[in-house]
Amino acid sequence: MVAASERLSAMATDTHFGFRQVPLDEKQGLVDEVFHKVARRYDLMNDLMSAGLHRAWKDAMLTAVNPPKSDRPFSLIDVAGGTGDIAMRVVAAGGTKTTATVVDPNTDMLAVGRERATAQAYDHAVTFVEGNAEALPFPDGAFDAYTIAFGIRNVPRIEVALKEAYRVLRPGGHFVCLEFSTVDVPGLEALYDLYSFNLIPAIGRAVTGDAEAYRYLVESIRKFPKPEAFATMIRAAGFGRVAHQSLTGNIVALHSGWRL
Ligand SMILES: C[S@@+](CC[C@H](N)C(=O)[O-])C[C@H]1O[C@@H](n2cnc3c(N)ncnc32)[C@H](O)[C@@H]1O
Repeated sequence: MVAASERLSAMATDTHFGFRQVPLDEKQGLVDEVFHKVARRYDLMNDLMSAGLHRAWKDAMLTAVNPPKSDRPFSLIDVAGGTGDIAMRVVAAGGTKTTATVVDPNTDMLAVGRERATAQAYDHAVTFVEGNAEALPFPDGAFDAYTIAFGIRNVPRIEVALKEAYRVLRPGGHFVCLEFSTVDVPGLEALYDLYSFNLIPAIGRAVTGDAEAYRYLVESIRKFPKPEAFATMIRAAGFGRVAHQSLTGNIVALHSGWRL
């Protein structure tokens, strides 16, 4: 029989992968598998699943980042940057000295990103680096802004990633995070559940041949802390002027904090 103390210590080192409880050290491998499977169809799936809405959500993130239009140097780190969508938008909106570094542990997502950056002539300003949000391979204070879009819920130790975000930002640097939230609009809630638990895995199966990967994505959204709880975690990492804004009936939340 397992003693209560052993059960408690096992729970402390467990986390969730979608609705499954898994040992903390196994989550990253499982997440990596999901994104290896979907990398080639990832951008198409984003458009299909969100009916193009992810573009509007990313526009809201871009407005928050607000890269300078002048020739002032501005460096962005886009963590969990995947195929480079946010990085390329920021570089396109900023002045000639705006640069972006995409960090992601998944080499397949990065490969798609590099191809896109070359095809769209952004490779002079966007760099792709293999790395993990929990241990960023950069010195303290290296960046003006840190973005993470639909990425933080995949990270096993979120509080470690938030501390890393704080560390790599210069004083005055801006942390901006886009993440799915909890739909709490009566009526929309039931419709959203029906759509996400039934239609999204079916679209995933049709487009990528993999329903499971998309089931994980939907389940992981439900396990992510509510915006107020996540804002508390951002504050605990040291950020000030922490705020969040809900988008599209709370489907998504845009979080912001400053390294003061
Ligand atoms: C849903 S995609 C988001 C991609 C991109 N930010 C976007 O909005 O299109 C999530 C990304 O998180 C990455 N990821 C998973 N675990 C990570 C970790 N520990 N650190 C950084 N990125 C991670 C995945 O490889 C994947 O590319």
